Amino acid sequence: MNKFSRTMNSPATRRSVDEITGSRRLRRTRKADWSRRLVRENHLTVDDLIWPLFLMEGENRQEPLEAMPGVMRHTVDHAVRQAERAARLGIPAIATFPNIDPARRDETGSHSLDPDNLINRATRAIKEAVPEIGIITDVALDPFTSHGHDGILRDGEIVNDETVAQIAVAAVGQAAAGADIIAPSDMMDGRIGAIRDALDQNGFQNVAIMSYATKFASAFYGPYREAIGTGGLLKGDKKTYYIDPANSDEALREAEQDLLEGADMLIVKPGLPYLDIVHRLKDTFAVPTFAYQVSGEYAMIKAAAANGWIDGERAMVESLLAFKRAGCDGILTYFAPEMAELL
Ligand code: PBG
Repeated sequence: MNKFSRTMNSPATRRSVDEITGSRRLRRTRKADWSRRLVRENHLTVDDLIWPLFLMEGENRQEPLEAMPGVMRHTVDHAVRQAERAARLGIPAIATFPNIDPARRDETGSHSLDPDNLINRATRAIKEAVPEIGIITDVALDPFTSHGHDGILRDGEIVNDETVAQIAVAAVGQAAAGADIIAPSDMMDGRIGAIRDALDQNGFQNVAIMSYATKFASAFYGPYREAIGTGGLLKGDKKTYYIDPANSDEALREAEQDLLEGADMLIVKPGLPYLDIVHRLKDTFAVPTFAYQVSGEYAMIKAAAANGWIDGERAMVESLLAFKRAGCDGILTYFAPEMAELL
């Protein structure tokens, strides 16, 4: 054996030189910050963020939400200022959710059809002041119904087709107010096709549909229901229309159906507990896919951080990056302004 043969890559010499790892040391690329940055596979940018904003009636006011530290409900004039802030930070789009005056809520959510309801007034005001930001509006009926369900309640049943007919009209009203993207979160069957037809027939061919295609019957929506004032109203649960958290194939069927009906983009909701769904959807359909890091997910991180149990900022960054790694093109998150400031 000559001197040179010692350095050759024969299994025998490898074992003697580096017995423990066999020279396979993955830590080499992790040894320094520059090197970790060099091999980093996924990045979060401000372009990945969609900011959900809560609306309320009144003027020049905002109200803190107890279970969502740092999140407020805003009157329309205030929401305009938040939209300006979002645009300044480079956030591409906001998603609005109204807390409707209880006196305006009824069995069928009829106020959703009013061109001058809170959500439509906010859209018009924001569009006028901040035309460069995208506005995403939800057409589900839950903020407008006296029972907090996403559809029309008749004899103890959330009726599908009548609800679809109504939300298609509400969607046209939202588009007329200036919404760029309609995002139906109600999980009624056939809603995407009906909304697409209604938009097209009314000249809104350029208004997109971001479908909450896979929305699960989740416990993580608690703080949101408080924010829009449906928490105390909701009778029963939403299991007859949202997907069972045990199911994954069914989520694929929902997404496929919505895409066939004309959805431009998909949302998975909630977020972190459903990253497997994000991954399957992205792998299967290769369309723009988003996750909604919902109110309960935000509340958990904030609450643990407030107790000093976790580092809140690092948990925020890590959770948002996890969405990118799973295949998300973007994330609806209450952390949007905080994250954008950090970026
Ligand atoms: C209902 C709707 C929900 C959310 C947004 N729209 C869920 C619900 O209350 O059933 C949840 C958002 C969140 O928790 O952050 N259409």
